[in-house]
Amino acid sequence: MIVGDSRVQAVKGNSALRVGVVGVGVMGSNHARVLAGIPGFQLAGVADPDGAQRELVKRVLGCPAVEDVDALIRLGIDAVTIAAPTHLHHDIALTCINRGIHVLVEKPIASSVEEGNAIIAAARWAGVTLMVGHVERFNPAVQVIKDAIRSEDILSIAITRVGPFPPRMSSVGVVIDLAVHDIDLIRWFTDSDIVEVQPQLSSAVAELEDIALLQFRTASGVLAHINTNWLTPFKARDITVATRGKYVMGDLLTRQVTECFGFQPDGSYSMRHLSVGHDEPLRAELIAFLNAIRNGEPPAVTGEEAVASLEIAIRCLEHRPRAASAARRAAPRRVAG
Ligand SMILES: NC(=O)c1ccc[n+]([C@@H]2O[C@H](COP(=O)([O-])OP(=O)(O)OC[C@H]3O[C@@H](n4cnc5c(N)ncnc54)[C@H](O)[C@@H]3O)[C@@H](O)[C@H]2O)c1
Repeated sequence: MIVGDSRVQAVKGNSALRVGVVGVGVMGSNHARVLAGIPGFQLAGVADPDGAQRELVKRVLGCPAVEDVDALIRLGIDAVTIAAPTHLHHDIALTCINRGIHVLVEKPIASSVEEGNAIIAAARWAGVTLMVGHVERFNPAVQVIKDAIRSEDILSIAITRVGPFPPRMSSVGVVIDLAVHDIDLIRWFTDSDIVEVQPQLSSAVAELEDIALLQFRTASGVLAHINTNWLTPFKARDITVATRGKYVMGDLLTRQVTECFGFQPDGSYSMRHLSVGHDEPLRAELIAFLNAIRNGEPPAVTGEEAVASLEIAIRCLEHRPRAASAARRAAPRRVAG
């Protein structure tokens, strides 16, 4: 356990790790709820400057709730998950890492590649586990797709991630908020870096981009496409992967995955539904964080991978339109908030 300023790195034995959550808004309150139910973690407390959020979590989960990360550290914690707004990830992560505390930071790892690299360097120097919350990798449907294409010659990947505008969203656009999930999946599915980026962006309603059509080529030659926006009245998350031997289709919300295979010269083929588990992705992610700390092994999603995905997202933004046209913004929209 880490108390105050003492720099103690390894967590010995099988006693529960005392874990804290920094930022208990939409995502962090889920972290706190799930952490409270994982044997091996003891939810030591949460920190949030917003008194109402803090008290809500305290009342529901019965854990201490404090105003800031320093007060959380004074409670004595071995590990922390950071779900404060992205522009605060760097400072909060460094505060924790410099006290020898293991860190899981929500995606995107930070606001810039430089800040992400600074977090990685600090964690390496301190010898603590650093994992990044690219939770989609723990979606059982995504894992089934990954398994289905594991030894295949992948040709193309298409991902759709659309939905209505989230009212709380203001500081980032759809690329940093949503597409970064899929950039990470493309890199993970292909085990390859993205080397070419062809983005098309527009801001129809929001200040920042709310429509993005992103095309990529990986070093291994895979063509990939992301269609994401905040203009669709319902949520949809779909992945299709074409390989030389298969065509795999997954719906990440209904968790249905189907593959077509056995293509014949006459155009016929076979089709089967793949069995998908029901694990909660966030729970699986937090258990992976626990195991990485306990075993001292590289975490399932490393800081380096998260920075690589952030870097691609930022490259896409180099093509961001400066501002939506006044006329377009003034026009009535079917979906607003
Ligand atoms: N993995 C995912 O699927 C996923 C989904 C949503 C959000 N996120 C990420 O989680 C992070 C938070 O997003 P959100 O949607 O929960 O935002 P949110 O605004 O709902 O919550 C952020 C919380 O952090 C608190 N906060 C602000 N300053 C703080 C500080 N200095 N110390 C501690 N807490 C502070 C706020 O009061 C708020 O309660 C972002 O980085 C976002 O990208 C990830």
